[in-house]
Amino acid sequence: MPDQSKHLLFVEDEAPLREVLAEQLADRGFHVQQAGSGEEALARLSEFAFDIIVTDLRLPGIDGSAVLEAAVGRYPEIIAIVVTGYGTVKDAVEAIKRGAWDFVSKPFQIDELLHALDAALEQRRLKSENAYLRAQLQERYSFQGIVGKSRAMARLFQLLDTVAPTSSTILVTGETGTGKEIVARAIHHASPRRLHRFVALNCSAIPETLLEAELFGHVRGAFTGAVGSRQGRLEQAHRGTLFLDEVGTMSQGLQMKLLRVLQEREFERVGDTHTTKVDVRVIAATNSDLTAMVQTGAFREDLFYRLNVIPIDLPPLRTRKEDVPLLVQHFLDRFRPTAGAPGNGGAAEAAPLTPPLTISQEAMRRLMAYEWPGNVRQLENAVERAVAFSAGRPQIDVGDLPPEIQHAEEPPVPSAIVLPDEGIDLSAFVIKIERELIRRSLERTGGNKGRAAQLLNLKRTTLVEKLKRLGL
Ligand SMILES: Nc1ncnc2c1ncn2[C@@H]1O[C@H](COP(=O)(O)OP(=O)(O)OP(=O)(O)O)[C@@H](O)[C@H]1O
Ligand SMILES: [Mg+2]
Repeated sequence: MPDQSKHLLFVEDEAPLREVLAEQLADRGFHVQQAGSGEEALARLSEFAFDIIVTDLRLPGIDGSAVLEAAVGRYPEIIAIVVTGYGTVKDAVEAIKRGAWDFVSKPFQIDELLHALDAALEQRRLKSENAYLRAQLQERYSFQGIVGKSRAMARLFQLLDTVAPTSSTILVTGETGTGKEIVARAIHHASPRRLHRFVALNCSAIPETLLEAELFGHVRGAFTGAVGSRQGRLEQAHRGTLFLDEVGTMSQGLQMKLLRVLQEREFERVGDTHTTKVDVRVIAATNSDLTAMVQTGAFREDLFYRLNVIPIDLPPLRTRKEDVPLLVQHFLDRFRPTAGAPGNGGAAEAAPLTPPLTISQEAMRRLMAYEWPGNVRQLENAVERAVAFSAGRPQIDVGDLPPEIQHAEEPPVPSAIVLPDEGIDLSAFVIKIERELIRRSLERTGGNKGRAAQLLNLKRTTLVEKLKRLGL
């Protein structure tokens, strides 16, 4: 049976050599096509998805490195082997950098080439098996490094899949630490814009006066200290993605200028009369209640609608506790110490790893019981700290957790709820409890409906409806 994965394109300008080798390769089960020039190779590549390409680097006309580049560019999985002249190791290294799998130097025996091909095929088989298994595991519960298995997260992954390829403006909302920035980055990396830059600008971290110049850039002499002209973040993000964090803190003046960018895709650098056009996708994020800010006039309504084309609201961690174990595992892997350097998380790539860390059931129960006001970021920090405290023990225990989490307990079922002997009007009772919890949530948030809705794990609009229905 012919091996499906052995379609090989052999590119060599010396016809006698090419024909002999092609025949020998065919004898070993490869399906060989030949090309006598770079031009011919490119034509063949455009017609057929070869598994393997073997190309001489030195060809008249279009040379071998251009052929290599075209092959790898078109078929990233292709196995490319280059043939170099005697003593031109530098060319070979260059070729490997450009994506060649291996090289053989002329003159060579057929066995040398076969050996390189076998090794490459075997490696690719292993790689794709591993990648397949890993993809199977990851596909279900993650998206570009965002982990979660709750229904809310599954819906989020679906939404990200849908919106990433578009250029629509997105507004990401959610409490602190829920993953607004990681979501913005994931969208960029899953979009065709990933080849260009992801530029982040935190609007609250920069004094108002500097923010405009930071966003739009400035020309020389635009203000005191503007010695040269400079590109702003908008221009840096051209053809890529601009992430505007804490967009709710922008002044009215800047809000208007941003509105123009979103409408016209053009702006002027500070102090400039020349208009610059940009192609950016804007992703904005905020943890303030922009709807409420629109009502009080603190945020422009027209800008809100321009930003809120696709709203993505990230749920607080306490409303999706089934994600906690998966996140704990994710961070345990990340902070797992390297064998030589305990506690050195992050840089674990090259150094050998210690055996996987586990966590005791009791510690996991406390993590599940805790309310996580700082959301995933707080969980990440807690795991990092616990790994450090576990000091080489293979299992993390309750004592390794931060004190406030050690003492977390599942809230008791309210003792006020008793079923009287004579029975109860369930609907009326549930409404009574609903009213009471809504009243308390508004009390605790000083009447902020957005926050109150989050406390109740409701959409703001649902809460507003309930308030009307219950006459509150
Ligand atoms: N679902 C997730 N899976 C994996 N890591 C996550 C997830 N959500 C958040 N994180 C991690 O938690 C940390 C906080 O996330 P991020 O900075 O995106 O939050 P944020 O919503 O922007 O917070 P803030 O409002 O405080 O700026 C980051 O280190 C991020 O990688
Ligand atoms: Mg953030």
